[in-house]
Amino acid sequence: MDEKQLQSEFLKAFGTGTEPVKAYFAPGRVNMIGEHTDYNGGHVFPCALTLGIYGAFRRRQDRQLRFYSLSYPQAGIITASLDRLINSEQGGWSNYPMGVIWTLDKKAGIQLPGGFDMLVYSHLPVGCGLSSSAALEVMTGLALSDLFGLHRSLKDIALDGQFCENHFINLNCGIMDQFISALGRKDNAMFLDTNTLDYEYAPLAMPDAKIIITNSNVKHSLASSAYNQRRQQCETALAQLQTVLPVKTLGDLDEDSFETHKKVITDPVCLRRARHAVYENRRTIKAFSLLKSGDIAGFGRLMNQSHVSLRDDYEVSCKELDYLAELAWMHPGVIGCRMTGGGFGGCTVAIVENEHVESFIAQLGAKYKGRFGIIAEFYIVEPGDGARAIM
Ligand code: GLA
Repeated sequence: MDEKQLQSEFLKAFGTGTEPVKAYFAPGRVNMIGEHTDYNGGHVFPCALTLGIYGAFRRRQDRQLRFYSLSYPQAGIITASLDRLINSEQGGWSNYPMGVIWTLDKKAGIQLPGGFDMLVYSHLPVGCGLSSSAALEVMTGLALSDLFGLHRSLKDIALDGQFCENHFINLNCGIMDQFISALGRKDNAMFLDTNTLDYEYAPLAMPDAKIIITNSNVKHSLASSAYNQRRQQCETALAQLQTVLPVKTLGDLDEDSFETHKKVITDPVCLRRARHAVYENRRTIKAFSLLKSGDIAGFGRLMNQSHVSLRDDYEVSCKELDYLAELAWMHPGVIGCRMTGGGFGGCTVAIVENEHVESFIAQLGAKYKGRFGIIAEFYIVEPGDGARAIM
């Protein structure tokens, strides 16, 4: 979809008007390693995709809000008002932009002077763990900042998106998805310390291999309540560790201090959750330095370990993702593979040597369909730039 098409779809949906139509884009993401560490004060290593969400906007003179998505045409034009910003079932996807407006007020004391019309188009598969909701929040945040002259920095916009998710949508997510969607960089992944929000880019160029996302096309229900529960279990474990150690987050621990003090964690489930958070953070730090030194094989081995830990200790994988990971591990030329994102369905990410890419896609696709009757989708990753205005 280019600017012209967006503009013409916008005019088709909302008609002509005097104010200019402006367009924005924010990408989805794939996380290479560092899963479920971002709300535990650990590190993550995601990259932005070239796939993402486009939006066209036009300011209104009144206080109305009108939303239309080319991905959900059956929902028609959803209307709302700046005077009644609530999260409702009928709101559907528009709860995200509504939540961003609500956040500006609640978090930064910014009230929009007027409403707007908004058209959205996603070429990111929605709800499959590639952060379509973060992309929607960030794209909206950037658009509102630009349209209304709010001067929000990209970092503010990312934090606003997370606030919206935590307090309006009620998913207690960390900062990874919004941060990389706002601040991604072409050809690079971002090593982000979620404790300090310090970050560093690292080139993800691998001349001999491709990064491949496999979408399992399954999404298990209860994912958001299970997500919030994982977070709580980590908090329980941390509170017990804090009785014997001066740490602020699980990300402050290394393997040795965890092993020495883990006995204070009374619940075995919380102990496993914390073990994942601590070890995964350490793996992410190691993986980043291996990548920088050119040790892709070492990086891949850590990806495999990450999957095992997410499967056994954190229990956020599922049979479909496990099967895709196991098939990948057995396939020639696969350097590493793991589930990526929140889990309970969604995608795996693999590094595959160039000459094996075709057989990887053909064989995993066929075997997966044979086992589950579901067609998996494959995307070859090109790390892209973060959110931006496009006209
Ligand atoms: C979701 C959340 C992120 C992060 C991942 C797991 O994508 O939005 O904040 O916690 O799950 O790593």
